[in-house]
Amino acid sequence: MRASLQAITDELRRLKAGGVSNLPVSEESLRRLRDVVAARRPAAAAPAEPTPFVPASDAPSRPSPAAPTSKPKPAEPTLPPPPVVNLPADGDKQSRWDWLKNHVVNHPVVTANLRAGKVAVLGVGNLDASVMFVGEAPGAEEEVQGEPFVGPAGQLLTKMIQAMGVKRDDVYIGNIMNWRPQLPDTPEGAPQVGNRPPTAEEMAFCLPFLRAQIEIVRPSLLVALGSTAAQGLLGAGSFTALGQVRGRWHDFNGTPTMVTYHPSYILRNNSNRSKRMIWEDLLKVMERAGLPISEKQRGYFLGK
Ligand code: URA
Repeated sequence: MRASLQAITDELRRLKAGGVSNLPVSEESLRRLRDVVAARRPAAAAPAEPTPFVPASDAPSRPSPAAPTSKPKPAEPTLPPPPVVNLPADGDKQSRWDWLKNHVVNHPVVTANLRAGKVAVLGVGNLDASVMFVGEAPGAEEEVQGEPFVGPAGQLLTKMIQAMGVKRDDVYIGNIMNWRPQLPDTPEGAPQVGNRPPTAEEMAFCLPFLRAQIEIVRPSLLVALGSTAAQGLLGAGSFTALGQVRGRWHDFNGTPTMVTYHPSYILRNNSNRSKRMIWEDLLKVMERAGLPISEKQRGYFLGK
């Protein structure tokens, strides 16, 4: 339950950052929320349940989640202008990537934005990948492990990639941000749980690091996962609702870029309908990447 509420809270923060101010909430969700509030007791640490990304005929559906519990005020960091990244001109992809990783994780602005004991996160995957996925920012698990998409949303992303008939190791996965955007401590001085979307200033600061990864990998296609990634790649303020840009090809410095929902959207709304929307976008990616598509794959999530 705690993991579900966390996913909803994070998604609502993202929607709010993307300009959404109203959302329809079903009676059932309101009832669930009331139950949670009524039961208000210290949350027990619960392992996150991975959500399946396979057709409903193969997987039991999960109950729809409830509504958010808190609205922490975003931190307002002040950052210097975005850095200029001078990648080494010589060397193979791996040595240039190693240089970049060392540069990013030791960058004084990056390290100054980390919580004590946490690490910066660069992308991961195949440096010869033809498809690069771009997410938002590291979360709680990622800032510990130093790898993107290893938490609940990451487990789901891995399943989405596998549904495309490829392995996680075949693609490259990066983020707009290299550190987890910090939330101010609670009034009691305790660290807040949850995530907030990065500010435009934070995204602008980290974008040169993502550009450098794209320059090294040179993927044929980019996939922007969710509103923050899309704003980062297409330009802050280039759209007000993800629906305006999702499911269509865009251009990022000459690389065709598909925009789709963030996997956390499915953690919040685990219906065949929402899975199908993402899946249709991924079918377009598979087509353009020249990946084989079986009839079975074409029909995923067409049921109720
Ligand atoms: N983990 C990441 O690395 N990025 C996201 O966008 C979400 C979770």
